Amino acid sequence: MSQSLKIAIIGAGLSGISAARSLVAAGHAVVIFDKSRGSGGRLSSKRTEFGQFDMGAQYFTARDHSFRQELKTWLDARCVEEWTPRLYQYDQSGLRRSQDNQQRFVGYPRMTAWSRALLEGLELVSSTRIEKLQAQDDGQWLLLDDQQQAHGPFARVVVATPAPQAVTLLEPASQLAHAASQVEMLAGWTLALSFNQPLDTPMDACFVREGPIDWISRNSSKPGRDESDTWVIQSTPAWAQAHIDSDKDTVASDLLSAFAEVLSMDLPTAQFTHVHRWLYARPGQQCEWGALAAPELGLYACGDWCLGGRVENAWLSGQQAAKTLLSKH
Ligand code: FAD
Ligand code: NAI
Repeated sequence: MSQSLKIAIIGAGLSGISAARSLVAAGHAVVIFDKSRGSGGRLSSKRTEFGQFDMGAQYFTARDHSFRQELKTWLDARCVEEWTPRLYQYDQSGLRRSQDNQQRFVGYPRMTAWSRALLEGLELVSSTRIEKLQAQDDGQWLLLDDQQQAHGPFARVVVATPAPQAVTLLEPASQLAHAASQVEMLAGWTLALSFNQPLDTPMDACFVREGPIDWISRNSSKPGRDESDTWVIQSTPAWAQAHIDSDKDTVASDLLSAFAEVLSMDLPTAQFTHVHRWLYARPGQQCEWGALAAPELGLYACGDWCLGGRVENAWLSGQQAAKTLLSKH
């Protein structure tokens, strides 16, 4: 085997985890850094006394052959399960059952259980926001965090953050920084609700895609979730942009009214309401870069913004970054 490298990955979302797993499997020493206390990035679950909620990605689909192969191992390990919601769609003509046979999967028993399982055995440094990459004379990199601490040195660095957060980190590789700066990331609001009594509707999930609401799901219809009647409502990007600075109470009230309109019912008072704003929910355009590389500097970038804003693409982008790095070693 060729020499083992010390590699830093910035971002413990699915793309960073995906790259890390490949690089560790190839015998390299990988350290992942994340600014959050937890991990998983936009695979995010909130646990409360009123139930748990997948606040970011709702489910994932699997189209690529290599991703489907991995999926089998995750299903066997029971960190992922298929979710078969009673799916609806809503438009001007109202609410109707969707004729849809797409297979959809979720982390089990919550979205982050999957990312946690994938992180097992990997070295994660959490609550550490990396602000800058500093080149050393020998070509290695030091990572400087927002507390002025230096981490490293590392022979290679993979930046696996959303595009806007990648731009300054990638400054030493101007072409990569420029590419990342061209990617607009769109915002989104997520509303989590829990009711005392189950809402009187057969609907488990609904594509709306217009006005305030993009998507509705009954979180408790997913496998392994708890028994309270929990719901997650996600806004469209356009509505989020128009309400980007609104206060959370107003956002909750607007999304709740739109939810009641979709269901054509007066909603009971929720026993729990929580609102989260995603500044970088999804890339505004579909790039086909796979991953970005400046091998002469030992710098790489991956994330859903390199391939399209879906869970599967984040995974594939991380795989691509690792493959390119390994091929240049
Ligand atoms: P992220 O998950 O964003 O990971 C990046 C990580 O980098 C984060 O953990 C962040 O904390 C960290 N980070 C950023 N800057 C720094 C720094 N300076 N230093 C250290 N760490 C840093 N996809 C689907 O396929 N199906 C869905 O149903 C779906 N629904 C979605 C709903 C919402 C509300 C959102 C927000 C996204 C949804 N997506 C969905 C998209 C999916 O979640 C993403 O495509 C995927 O999770 C992105 O993974 P990533 O690794 O590219 O980025
Ligand atoms: P998918 O195959 O379920 O959806 C693909 C697209 O087809 C959807 O965006 C939707 O517009 C349409 N669609 C699929 N089934 C439909 C139905 N039954 N009725 C009406 N429209 C339907 O999943 P895929 O391709 O894996 O996409 C991921 C999902 O993640 C998408 O729904 C996307 O919108 C969502 N997402 C949400 C984000 C957010 O911030 N809310 C961010 C990134 C992705």
